[in-house]
Amino acid sequence: MGKMQTADFQTAIDSGAIMIDKFIYREAMSKLGAAVSVVTSDGEAGLCGATVSAVCSVTDTPATLLVCVNQSSRSNSVIKTNGVLCVNVLAGVNRTVADLFSGSAGVPSEERFSHISHSTLKTGAPVLDGAIVSFDCELEQIIEFGTHSIFLARVVDIRGNDAEACLVYFGRQYISVSTAAE
Ligand SMILES: Cc1cc2nc3c(=O)[nH]c(=O)nc-3n(C[C@H](O)[C@H](O)[C@H](O)COP(=O)(O)O)c2cc1C
Repeated sequence: MGKMQTADFQTAIDSGAIMIDKFIYREAMSKLGAAVSVVTSDGEAGLCGATVSAVCSVTDTPATLLVCVNQSSRSNSVIKTNGVLCVNVLAGVNRTVADLFSGSAGVPSEERFSHISHSTLKTGAPVLDGAIVSFDCELEQIIEFGTHSIFLARVVDIRGNDAEACLVYFGRQYISVSTAAE
């Protein structure tokens, strides 16, 4: 579907449709700027990694994140079997990493980890070098809703670095957002 103009978008909303069409919803969501992360896992089911924006904090006691992963994504079943995941929040310079793990770089999933250096913390899930911060997590609970699984993940370790810019997805584009003075 082509890009919808704001006026068309408003007309569609004003037409009073009770059920919001998924394309209208996606167009609206493109205006919600969001940090970009790569959720990784390793264990019994092997390695996986997927670029995600659906990440947020649930509570700090106990430190818990939620991550929404499409049920059609290979990562979904791998994370469930492994029972662990790591949310690697990408730095502003990490656009190629986002492309690598969203599939848009065309690199097969089994090859993706050979293109980036990584280590581990407590759970064994890959911690990507260069991520602005990585949350190493144990899977606590899974809620299936619509097309996605909501993973509630308890944070068991954290590694950060001093990168000054994070990667944000807004208007279907990557933008580097920096704390450094202009
Ligand atoms: C900016 C961006 C954000 C994304 N956010 C999510 C997300 O929150 N959840 C999700 O399931 N997929 C998301 N995707 C799509 C996944 O990256 C893609 O489907 C994934 O790489 C599938 O790979 P897999 O089948 O190897 O797991 C996003 C893609 C992009 C480019």
